[in-house]
Amino acid sequence: MIIAHSLQELSLALESSPNRVFVPTMGNLHEGHLQLIDQAKALCTPHGGLTVASVFVNRLQFSPHEDFDQYPRTLERDCDLLRSRGCDVVFAPNEALMYPQVQTFKLTPPTELANIWEGHFRPGFFTGVCTVVMKLFHMVAPSTAIFGKKDYQQWLVLKHMVQQMAMPIEILGYPIVRSPDGLALSSRNGYLSDTQRVQALQLQKELGATAQFVQTQSNGFQAQCQTGMDTLRAKGWKVDYLAVCQQHDLKEVDHWGSDDLVILVAATLGTTRLIDNMEVRLTERIQ
Ligand code: PAF
Repeated sequence: MIIAHSLQELSLALESSPNRVFVPTMGNLHEGHLQLIDQAKALCTPHGGLTVASVFVNRLQFSPHEDFDQYPRTLERDCDLLRSRGCDVVFAPNEALMYPQVQTFKLTPPTELANIWEGHFRPGFFTGVCTVVMKLFHMVAPSTAIFGKKDYQQWLVLKHMVQQMAMPIEILGYPIVRSPDGLALSSRNGYLSDTQRVQALQLQKELGATAQFVQTQSNGFQAQCQTGMDTLRAKGWKVDYLAVCQQHDLKEVDHWGSDDLVILVAATLGTTRLIDNMEVRLTERIQ
């Protein structure tokens, strides 16, 4: 496995194949990321392609009050894990390489998709994500990029970005990886105390209850979400949203239409903000 810190090292490492399957990350890797690498390898190995990961904590997508300084930087461990899963190239640029000047040019996604849900609670987040991912795409020139669907809105925004910006890159979404007790894997789970780690399961429980409601009822989704949010708040969570949305544009719905749905949730326990989601397809509806 080659670890490239500069653009020169990167282009040498990428030379052997234009078929590159790319997994961008901010490091502090867990099994969820590593399954993205497995998927990347499965896609490119038969064609002699390269599995490429990047590790870069992107200042641009953090609000001033968020955990940019505190975000764990564990490059050595990350590289060991990536090597163990057969990753071919790790691109680990530093701040000076990604942002040699103040990044005044930015890629701003449309408000109707990017200023709702995560974008509402984290202003500028998707502009920061799109800008860094576009730059990474220019540097790595992948044929395919894989993102975890835990960040469902991010995956959707990036799919729209490549379509509208005519970037010749296929964007794939990989299902959420959960721990055996159901908690969605996240780099931020490490911030939870032992007690909070147990409490954190309440989030997935409310999501599951909402999914069950949506599968078996035809309307009243918003009232059900309100009940779910009240339950979480009563247990000490600060809830940003729990909503049933159309998969293709993340618009909130109160009843079934002709689209598959996704339930999105974001809430903070102590000082740790967690997000999760669950897809419910029309075909899974129990009438
Ligand atoms: O999902 C992440 O880890 C980040 O948002 C990404 C896509 C690597 C961009 O910094």
